[in-house]
Amino acid sequence: MTKPWSKSDWRTKPRVQMPDYPDQAALNGVEAQLAKYPPLVFAGEARRLRKQLAAAAEGNAFLLQGGDCAESFAEFSADNIRDTFRVMLQMAVVLTYGAKVPVIKVGRMAGQFAKPRSAPTEVIGGVEYPSYRGDIINGFDATPEARLPDPSRMLQAYTQAAASLNLLRAFSTGGFADIHRVHSWTLGFAEHDKAERYRELSNRISDALDFMNAAGVNSETAHELSRVDFYTSHEALLLEYEEALCRVDSITGQNVAGSGHMIWIGDRTRQPDGAHVEFCRGVLNPIGLKCGPSTTADDLKVLMAKLNPQNEAGRLTLIARFGAGKVGENLPRLIKAVQEEGANVVWSCDPMHGNTIKSSTGYKTRPFDSVLREVREFFAIHKAEGTVPGGVHFEMTGKDVTECTGGLRAVTDEDLSDRYHTACDPRLNASQSLELAFLVSEELTARREGQRRIAM
Ligand code: PEP
Ligand code: CO
Repeated sequence: MTKPWSKSDWRTKPRVQMPDYPDQAALNGVEAQLAKYPPLVFAGEARRLRKQLAAAAEGNAFLLQGGDCAESFAEFSADNIRDTFRVMLQMAVVLTYGAKVPVIKVGRMAGQFAKPRSAPTEVIGGVEYPSYRGDIINGFDATPEARLPDPSRMLQAYTQAAASLNLLRAFSTGGFADIHRVHSWTLGFAEHDKAERYRELSNRISDALDFMNAAGVNSETAHELSRVDFYTSHEALLLEYEEALCRVDSITGQNVAGSGHMIWIGDRTRQPDGAHVEFCRGVLNPIGLKCGPSTTADDLKVLMAKLNPQNEAGRLTLIARFGAGKVGENLPRLIKAVQEEGANVVWSCDPMHGNTIKSSTGYKTRPFDSVLREVREFFAIHKAEGTVPGGVHFEMTGKDVTECTGGLRAVTDEDLSDRYHTACDPRLNASQSLELAFLVSEELTARREGQRRIAM
C-alpha cells in the first residue's frame, strides 16, 4: 500500500544539502509568490516523456540527457541556450543512426540551478566561506554577503527557466531543429582531419536522408523531420522551490512537479527516509535516481519500491555514476537487485561524476578517456548481463570551453585555464560531446548487430 502524500510532507523528514535561510519571513513570501505563478511544464508532457522512457527500458528508444552542471544567472543568454540545444540535436542524430530507435532528448536546462556540495564551507584565498550552492541559493562571489542564502534568487531562477523553456520550445518546432540542418553541422565535425572514422557514419546518414528525399519524404511532407520533442530536467534539490511549483493535474488529480519534465535525486540526497525521496515519490513526473559506489542493493530495493510502487515502466531511470574502472564491481550487483525485484527501470550512464580529478595545473577536470572508458564499461556489463543500456547522461555545453582534458582536439592540463567557465563541474565542450556521441553510436551499432546475430 502506498502511503498518502502531500507536497509539504518532506518538511517532516531529515533533509540534507539544503540551505538554512536566515530570513524566514522573506522565504515564506517567495514561496507564496511562486505558488501563484504558472507551472513551467504541463502534466501531459511529463506523461508523454514517461511513455517514451518506458520504450527506452525495453531498448526501443534511447535517452540522451545533457547540459550544464549548474546553470548560472551570469551565463544566461540566447546564444548559450542555442549552442547547447544544437549540440544535443547533433548528438541525437548520430545516436539515432547507431541505435535505430528514437532518441529522447532531455536537457539539464531550464531549472538546473541548485548544487549539492561535498562540504558546507570552502576556503578561498585563505578565508573560509559558506560553500556556493548554485545561483538559486547563493552567489558565486567569495564574499560573506554573496554566500548568504537568499530566497529571492528562486524568483530569478523561475524567470530564467521560463525564458529558457520558451526559447527551447521555439527552437524545437520553429525550423531550427530540422534534421537536414542539424546533420549538415554534424558533417562539419566529421570533416576534422582526425575524425576519419566518423566520416563514413556521417556519409551514411547523408545517404539515408537523400534516399528519403528521393522517395518524397522530406521536411515539407513529414513534419517529424523538421521538429523535435525536447524535455527539461534538473536535480530536485531545493525542495521549497519544488513544492511551490507543484500542481494538481486537472485531468487525473495527480500531483506534478511543475518545475521541469523530469527531476532527479542526487547521489548525496537519496536517503530512503529523507526529504528528497519523500517529495519525489508523490509527483507523476519521470524520476531519475543517481546510483554511485555507495548505493547498496538493499537501499536500491527500498528506493524502487518507494519511488515506483506500481512498477510502471518509464517512471524510474537509474543513472549509474561509478567512475571508470568501478563499473564492473558495482553495476552487476545493482542489476541483480533490480532483477530480484522484477523492477522496470531505464538504465542510464553518467560517466561524468565518478571521474572528476584535480589536474596538475590545479583545475577540477575530467579526462575524456575516463569518460569514454566508463561508457564502454557500462555497455559491456549490460551486454554480459543481457540487460538494456537505455541512455546516457552528460555534463556538456555547446561552447568551445576547456574544462575536460583530451578528445580529438586535445585539451591539455595547461589549456584548462584558457576557457574554464563552469560555475561547478567541468563540462564536455561541443567537439568532445559530438565525439562521445559517435563513440556511443558505435557501441549501439555493435549491440544491434550482436542481437541480430542471436536472432538469426
Ligand atoms: C550532478 O548531476 O550535477 C551531480 C551533483 O551528480 P551526483 O548527484 O551524481 O553527484
Ligand atoms: Co555536476
